[in-house]
Amino acid sequence: MNRLFVAGGRPLKGKVRVSGAKNASLALLCAAAMSRDSVILENIPDISDINVMSEIMKEMGFKTKREASGALEICAPLKLNAQPPYHMVKQLRASNLLLGPLLARFGEAEVALPGGCNIGVRPMDLHFKGLSGLGAQVSMKHGTVSAKADKLVGNRIYLDFPSVGATENIMMAACLAEGQTILENVAKEPEIVDLANFLNCLGAKVRGAGTDIIKIEGVQELGGCLRYPVIPDRIEAGTFMVAAAATGGDVELENVIPHHMEPICAKLREAGVEIIEGEEALRVVAGGKLKPIDLKTLPYPGFPTDMQSQFMAMLCTIAGTSVIIENIFENRFQIADELKRMGANIKVEGRIAVIEGVNELHGTHVKATDLRAGAALVIAGFMAEGTTEISNVKYIDRGYHLLEEKMKTLGAQVWRKDSR
Ligand code: EPZ
Repeated sequence: MNRLFVAGGRPLKGKVRVSGAKNASLALLCAAAMSRDSVILENIPDISDINVMSEIMKEMGFKTKREASGALEICAPLKLNAQPPYHMVKQLRASNLLLGPLLARFGEAEVALPGGCNIGVRPMDLHFKGLSGLGAQVSMKHGTVSAKADKLVGNRIYLDFPSVGATENIMMAACLAEGQTILENVAKEPEIVDLANFLNCLGAKVRGAGTDIIKIEGVQELGGCLRYPVIPDRIEAGTFMVAAAATGGDVELENVIPHHMEPICAKLREAGVEIIEGEEALRVVAGGKLKPIDLKTLPYPGFPTDMQSQFMAMLCTIAGTSVIIENIFENRFQIADELKRMGANIKVEGRIAVIEGVNELHGTHVKATDLRAGAALVIAGFMAEGTTEISNVKYIDRGYHLLEEKMKTLGAQVWRKDSR
């Protein structure tokens, strides 16, 4: 059912458990392709992006099995029986993360170029620069990228931009390259650190993840890590925090790593939201009058682009002027048009959005344009007078595990219907 209905006007209150991180899980699944032994990844969210990635790997000869606990077992074949199937790869941008692991493990990889998506062109030039730097022959034709290498050899590689995906692809490939690789100007997201920890659990020698420079000593093969738990999803957690703040609610989140949430907590506190930190929990207590803020998205530890749409929704009814600058993707303000249909006052000029707070949003029919915009429209629906109908809910299902169930435990009124 591809339409979600949200009744507005109710503050979210209660406790909810955050799922495993979608973006870390996708990278770990690809890294598991490099292991000679089967691996059980714990806390992997049951969302369509993960299920599509599992299906792609199954088509290539991997065995994947979901345990009752929600853990996912991956067992790599000795030899691939196919390259990632084009019709499935096109559904999932993150399938480009198979490039490095398959190249390193099997000496070749062919992955459909994941075309641009709603938030931007999403080129892969930095991925190719790094893999070529390790000695791979990388070519592109008919929308497919091929990489081949009899042997990968360590090298010093500088990333012109700290791309998350390029850092992940090159780091994975370098683990099985001969000699040392030094990666400079890399991404420092928590998902990069989680991937490095998993690779080291498989016997790799990765040092420096989370800093600007990662050093990798190549090894012969990877294996021997039977179980590995993925980190909690900081973006899912942030989405719930904004929903609580935007509805004047009081929500406690379990299974979070507060350190990963610092940029999100900092901006919520600046807006006047009270946040109480626990060991592995965060409690958001809103209720007072919120203040307008300025946001600029940056690579971690800057403010995450994946939280930009959710904050835009919250800022729509905060009196005063808020400014958002989107520095990561060139087309990540499409939600502004949908929020304006609900009565928001937003002006977009290139990478800058200026939000003038209005008294109230009004429920109407809106459509999700990408995963995080979809989540942001749910938040706008909670804030609005009346009921909001959101179409293209499949985007939300890509990245949020049991979103409605979790929102209902917080007192939200959400339900689904088939498209007309
Ligand atoms: C990852 O995408 C995440 N996806 C994105 O989350 C996230 O928004 C993004 O990192 C930034 O944090 C996954 O991890 C599966 P990038 P990725 O390479 O790796 C440019 C979500 O909603 N670039 O860091 O594709 C690129 O065009 C998704 O969960 C190049 O120019 O992001 C973009 O402008 C959305 N050349 C910028 O870098 C390259 O070779 C950041 O992209 C690669 C990227």
